[in-house]
Amino acid sequence: MGKKERVDKILSNLGYGSRKEIKSFVKQGMISVGNELIKDSSIKVDPTVEEIYFEGEKVYYREFIYLMLNKPQDVVSSTNDPISKTVLDLIDSKYLAFNPHPAGRLDKDTEGLLLITNDGKLSHELLSPKKNVKKTYYVEVDGYVDEKYFEVFESGIVLDDGYKTKPAKLEIIESGYVSKVYLTISEGKYHQVKRMFESLEMNVLYLKRISMGSLVLDDSLQPGEYRELSDEEVLLLKKS
Ligand code: URA
Repeated sequence: MGKKERVDKILSNLGYGSRKEIKSFVKQGMISVGNELIKDSSIKVDPTVEEIYFEGEKVYYREFIYLMLNKPQDVVSSTNDPISKTVLDLIDSKYLAFNPHPAGRLDKDTEGLLLITNDGKLSHELLSPKKNVKKTYYVEVDGYVDEKYFEVFESGIVLDDGYKTKPAKLEIIESGYVSKVYLTISEGKYHQVKRMFESLEMNVLYLKRISMGSLVLDDSLQPGEYRELSDEEVLLLKKS
């Protein structure tokens, strides 16, 4: 059982229109609760137990939305930007009605997994430095990275500002003039992955986040595409 709220507030929060518009929809007999048409848009209902119908179609009620975005390059993670396109510009208005925010940031030229949600508590927990949530990145660098670096990443790398990173796990996909690796870190310092490689005299050429806590980027999502998380993904993520 949830708490009772005005039906016009519930519907407008779900993106069905302004309160004024909902009032007019009610007058036009477009909205029912259970199997009764309502005549007053200020009546209170508990949307977790009572079914609301909009023009005969059941309203899918939820308080929180969770979207997994494969962030493309050239899009910023902030919610508004005077020049660049933002990740929210990629999201449909039916989701924007929930006022979601990106949980954390990726650089403009970084691709990959970005969670977009209005669940502030979950975002806060995922980003809290105390929680040490693991983030795995696929990295291409302009240097020869081989097994000798396992220990280097494991024992921490001193960044340009003197900060020593926590143990990070390196996995090698391919060593060469350009090496391809996975790097898992449990912190989120500014430009952290790029700065870790810079400390080792290498430049990151391509960076893509592929997981955050238990959440793994769905590889069927092309850059710029997103989908809602399944209930199971949300549950697991809350345990991350
Ligand atoms: N590390 C970086 O350098 N950039 C990102 O976008 C994420 C992690």
